[in-house]
Amino acid sequence: MERLRPAALGPLLCLVAACGGTNAPAEPPVGPGAALYARYCVACHMPDGSAREGLRPALALSPTVNGPVPALAVWVMYGERPATLSGRPYPSVMPRYATLKDDELAAILSYVRGAFGNSAAAVGAADIAALRASHAR
Ligand code: HEC
Repeated sequence: MERLRPAALGPLLCLVAACGGTNAPAEPPVGPGAALYARYCVACHMPDGSAREGLRPALALSPTVNGPVPALAVWVMYGERPATLSGRPYPSVMPRYATLKDDELAAILSYVRGAFGNSAAAVGAADIAALRASHAR
């Protein structure tokens, strides 16, 4: 059966949930992680990873983004809520991104861990592959 590509729904969900912000764009994105972030995440999380009350949490200085890779990756890939994520539910549901390739996910997560004032270690494609294998269903 053809499965929906949840990642492609991001911008649409954002329109429905009014994720738009008023923040001015940060520096133009560079590199594969930045380009993928711009494609899949920026509609909701904005170029600067900022929070907007009632709409989205911050990626900037987020304990989830800067914390252990497995919890971060499993949240982004499968929507399994990490303990570090705020208990405050948001009206829009974040899409799941397990359909992206290992190197794409590694690039996106490396980007968010190094952008917006974050300074956590990069993520390798092998880390994503291992997590995917342990989540095989
Ligand atoms: C449709 C809008 C939308 C898109 C697209 C989206 N997110 Fe999110 N994201 C959210 C919302 C809403 C939350 C809060 C979810 C919750 O608490 O239940 C969130 C939460 C997060 C968190 C947890 C932040 C924290 O510490 O509180 C991370 C990390 C994250 N998103 C990363 C990403 C990445 C990486 C992408 C792109 C691959 C992405 N998101 C795409 C809406 C989105």
